[in-house]
Amino acid sequence: RRVVLLGPPGCGKGTQSPALKRDFCLCHLATGDMLRAAVGAGTPNGLRAKAAMESGALVTDDIVIGIIEEATKKPECRNGFILDGFPRNVTQAQALDQMLASKGVAIDKVLNFEVPDSLLVERVTGRLVHPASGRSYHEKFAPPKVSMTDDVTGEPLIRRKDDNADTLKARLSTFHSQTAPVIDYYKKQGALVNIKADNPFDKVKTAIFGALNK
Ligand code: AP5
Ligand code: ZN
Repeated sequence: RRVVLLGPPGCGKGTQSPALKRDFCLCHLATGDMLRAAVGAGTPNGLRAKAAMESGALVTDDIVIGIIEEATKKPECRNGFILDGFPRNVTQAQALDQMLASKGVAIDKVLNFEVPDSLLVERVTGRLVHPASGRSYHEKFAPPKVSMTDDVTGEPLIRRKDDNADTLKARLSTFHSQTAPVIDYYKKQGALVNIKADNPFDKVKTAIFGALNK
């Protein structure tokens, strides 16, 4: 299976991915996570991506398309993958289609997570993450057992640099102007399934599994 998770910042893409990854044996390719790792490690891509990420703009297409091209070639991704945060504009969607067509495959399903902007502020500003594993928590909706501590490793949780109200505003505006056209792109291909993602965690998970098991 090759699945795309589409939706605004804070809609639940990263939260729902571990269960999907496990149950469908897919690899989870999150461009945001990979870019944050590159920024942290100070690689050339990381140095080029940093300013755009901190301002809530998109990183240039050549960087993210290159990252996805490399990642999808990995042997462990042969069984299929979940793309979380890619494609984010129509140019990236076209590049992905070409990349897959050259291997004789295509995207099977695009899950479009729908959450009104008004709910995303609280989700994003309350998010806590464990950077090494990518696990995320929420102060109010999914608190860790011990305050500011990862349940599994006991290591400290952090807040993402772009998870403040101002940067979120810019990220939402980028989403509506550049990523929303990708919804129509996949609707025309017949791959789009809308997921009502302003529900509790388990209800969203059930909707996603229902869409993928069809
Ligand atoms: P990225 O890391 O992809 O950020 P994003 O798209 O803004 O998405 P988020 O990670 O904020 O949202 P999510 O849906 O994963 O939310 P989560 O599940 O954690 O990208 C960051 C930056 O990198 C971009 O701004 C850009 O600069 C760059 N970039 C990345 N990809 C790119 C690309 N392809 N092209 C160009 N640039 C790119 O949930 C959020 C919170 O809500 C959590 O605390 C969670 O616990 C809580 N929550 C989740 N579900 C529920 C629920 N059902 N009920 C209550 N709370 C919930
Ligand atoms: Zn995410």
